[in-house]
Amino acid sequence: MAQSMNNNHPQGGERKNVASRSHIWPPHVIHDIQTKAELGRYQIRGFSTFFKIPTLDQLVFLPAALTRLPLEGYRESCDTKTILGGHKPDLVARPMELDIPIYIASMSFGALSRNAKIALGRGATMVGTCTSTGEGGMLEDERIASKKLIYQMTPSRYQLDLEHLRMADAIEIAVGQGAKPGTGGVLLGMKVIDKVVEMRQLPKGIDQRSSVRHPDFLGADDMQIKIEELRDATGYQVPIFCKMPACRVAQDVKIAAKSGVDVIVIDGMEGATGASPEFLLDHTGIPTLAAIPAARRALEEIGMYGKVSLVVSGGIKSGVDVAKALALGADAVAIGTASMIALGCNAPIYLEDYAALGAAPGACYHCHTGLCPVGVATQDEKLQERLDPDAGAQRLANYLRAMTMELTMIAKACGKSSVHGLEPEDLRALTLEASAMTGVPLAGVDKVVAPW
Ligand SMILES: Cc1cc2nc3c(=O)[nH]c(=O)nc-3n(C[C@H](O)[C@H](O)[C@H](O)COP(=O)(O)O)c2cc1C
Ligand code: SF4
Repeated sequence: MAQSMNNNHPQGGERKNVASRSHIWPPHVIHDIQTKAELGRYQIRGFSTFFKIPTLDQLVFLPAALTRLPLEGYRESCDTKTILGGHKPDLVARPMELDIPIYIASMSFGALSRNAKIALGRGATMVGTCTSTGEGGMLEDERIASKKLIYQMTPSRYQLDLEHLRMADAIEIAVGQGAKPGTGGVLLGMKVIDKVVEMRQLPKGIDQRSSVRHPDFLGADDMQIKIEELRDATGYQVPIFCKMPACRVAQDVKIAAKSGVDVIVIDGMEGATGASPEFLLDHTGIPTLAAIPAARRALEEIGMYGKVSLVVSGGIKSGVDVAKALALGADAVAIGTASMIALGCNAPIYLEDYAALGAAPGACYHCHTGLCPVGVATQDEKLQERLDPDAGAQRLANYLRAMTMELTMIAKACGKSSVHGLEPEDLRALTLEASAMTGVPLAGVDKVVAPW
């Protein structure tokens, strides 16, 4: 009796840690409030949302059995060639031709080190795919390292000039990204070093917050004019991409497609960043799982599915994720975080430097600090020397090859001689929410939870 009275006391006995089990006030929420109370501002960090959200893991493949014939996974070939923006030969003389449907997402020099940009370019080139400048202009070394390079045009117009537009293999109009929809980029002062100052024309060492609204267009009509201008400026040679966060996907995709872009890139809410207000990472946009079918349906509704290329990004970890994205309707995927991890992000080396950040290998999300222990997301000369561009490129190429093996193995098991033959019918959903979001039938029941 005495024991149970003690347990019932708010500060007594076994109940002394009971507050930490609260779903409303768990330790991280208490810590967040304490930090805001101390700093007087919200928290900024790298990486992506830590919330548990529906992902592609909630889908499984149905490989061939008696109703379909599989291909020999170890003997027969499966085509991976991917052409982005190849639907209008009169407007795009050189569509983006890739050997695999995976490329390196737009990540800026500034967020990433020079050595990381070179490694990404060389690694992508080794497997016949492309990379992208990201915000902040084109670094000479990355142009040399990347056989195929997308030039990103952001609202901030950093280092936007005609010469660089013409040096690119594609132009990407950035409307936003999944990590921080409706908000511009952040580059904390420690990363604003001389070269970044030169490229972005910013004051040295001062936090940079870039704009989000394009000065050149406000809606579909002027976007169409901008696209025509870009085609004219680049001599009708290269495709025009438009990258958007996954928000009102149906409407945004229709507007972009009607404006005349060649490739639409949808970045789901799990898309990562070098630095973002944390609340935007966790509470804005919709998951990649939901965004892909929404984009596909939107294009189908206006008769443009297959006439505009669809790329998705955000949380792509493996060749199996790529296969699921393709089956749902994408032509290709872009990867950010996974490519950084392949270079060495979160590797178990320089342990004391992780510890100094309050992090540990496998649990680091501190790109915003500029003190990356492995030289990937830093502008510090000494730290970035820790990443050897050739070794990094080799690791990235290995990873991309392994992803491609997984992708083709799945496709062959489903009886496809091209990875682009994967289709929604090859998938089943493991959860009601995945079925409702994707329109893929629930496993075993074979019924779509929400028929579109
Ligand atoms: C370090 C870093 C820098 C980034 N810089 C940019 C950028 O300059 N422009 C942009 O549109 N997206 C940027 N992104 C977002 C990526 O292009 C991509 O949308 C996102 O990383 C995809 O999600 P994933 O990391 O899960 O693959 C950046 C992401 C990271 C991790
Ligand atoms: S190891 Fe470097 S690149 Fe990876 S999360 Fe930490 S700071 Fe960012």
